Parts: sequence; C-alpha cells; structure tokens
Amino acid sequence: MDTKINESSHKSWNNSYLLDIPMIDKQHINFFKLFDKLMLMSKENDSYENINEVILELEKYTYNHFNTEESLMRNANVENIDFHILQHKLFIDKVEEFKLAYTYRNMILVDQMVVFMRKWFLMHISEVDRNYANTVREYLEKRNQ
Ligand SMILES: [Fe+2]
Repeated sequence: MDTKINESSHKSWNNSYLLDIPMIDKQHINFFKLFDKLMLMSKENDSYENINEVILELEKYTYNHFNTEESLMRNANVENIDFHILQHKLFIDKVEEFKLAYTYRNMILVDQMVVFMRKWFLMHISEVDRNYANTVREYLEKRNQ
C-alpha cells in the first residue's frame, strides 16, 4: 500500500477516493483538507496552540460525517454494518485521546495525528467505506426517482 500519496505537495486527496455519492465525497474531501492542514503544521513546526483548532474541527467532522454515513447505511439496509460502526467508535475515542493529549502539551501530537489520519484514509475511507457504496448509491437513486 502506497503511504506517500502526494505528500510533498500537501495535497493528499485524489479522485480514487471518490465513492460517487456526492454528499459523502464532499465530507471526505473535508477530512483530507484537515489532514493537509496537519501535514503543513507538522512540516512548518507551527505553534502548538493551533493543534487545538484542528482537533475541534476533527471532532465536529466525525460527529456530522459518521451520523450521515450511519443513517444512510441503515436506511439503505446495508448488511453487516456493526464492524463499520465499531470503527467509527474507535475513531471518536481516538479524537478524545487527542484532546486529552493536547492538554498535556504532547509535543509529538501533531505527528501522531498525521499517522493516525493517514491510516484512517488508507484503511477506512478507501476500503471499509467502499463496502457500502453500491447499496447506498442504489438507495439514493431509487429515493430520488
Ligand atoms: Fe465510515
């Protein structure tokens, strides 16, 4: 698995991550924007205080995005969603850990977040999310007819 996607340009998104579900794709692109912001902060040794803003944005993102995905999966009757929802819970727990770590002035926090978020888009966005794409797309097409 290639872990060096456009790293040098700080532009981590590429169209292979598209699920062709516009409301989800828009949210995923926002995740990559947050990731790019962190990458830049890490490379430029940005001030520690700015990490907090990204953590709060990440928290807001998870709340909205996971709600969107989970209700779409339920409405579309996607099978075996428990594992998917468990992964979302683990992500939410991780963001809580980041919040706590921030209060302890963990000076490698930004790098830990970059590593975690990269793993997330390589394993979750590009693989686990793909499992619901066809069923959700069919559901939305029928709903919009
Ligand atoms: Fe997901």
